[in-house]
Amino acid sequence: MRAYYYDNLPGDQRLAHDYVPSRPVSAEKLTQINIKFWQIPVEGYEPKVDAVAKERGYKNRDLINVTKEGLGDIYEEKIKSFFEEHMHEDEEIRYILSGSGFFDVRESPSDEWIRLAVEPGDLLVIPAGIYHRFTLDENNAIKALRLFQDEPKWIPYNRGPETEVNVHRIQYLKTVGVGA
Ligand SMILES: [Fe+2]
Repeated sequence: MRAYYYDNLPGDQRLAHDYVPSRPVSAEKLTQINIKFWQIPVEGYEPKVDAVAKERGYKNRDLINVTKEGLGDIYEEKIKSFFEEHMHEDEEIRYILSGSGFFDVRESPSDEWIRLAVEPGDLLVIPAGIYHRFTLDENNAIKALRLFQDEPKWIPYNRGPETEVNVHRIQYLKTVGVGA
């Protein structure tokens, strides 16, 4: 998984949006904003992903397959909705089986976007309360495991005044040492 600051230039969200020269983001920085990640080769991944799932209490999982062909007419609309800045009250956990894409996460307190370019073998945990968004890249396909603790609560809370005071948002900011 490659991590770098998003350049904020207009244009197709599926392009890399890497600064020239690139501004890479270190593993330490990702840890600071409470992003967790592992690299587990897809070949024979099950026992290793199971071990992480057991340790972190992810009892359930399902498979999501996002492709241009699969989504058909609603593809453009879906891609736009995944890219709305939002947070959840639960962790968002993804293990990439094939394809690729970009998760953008907001750094606090700078409010810059950090782009995480995910590839097969990446296991990523986006914490509850962090603002983020997702897009496919120019390959237009990704297949991933979604892991979750109990009942998935994937309600997206779009950024706005109400979400700013959501307890999970406030808790997240405390965890990363921002805010009271
Ligand atoms: Fe999300």
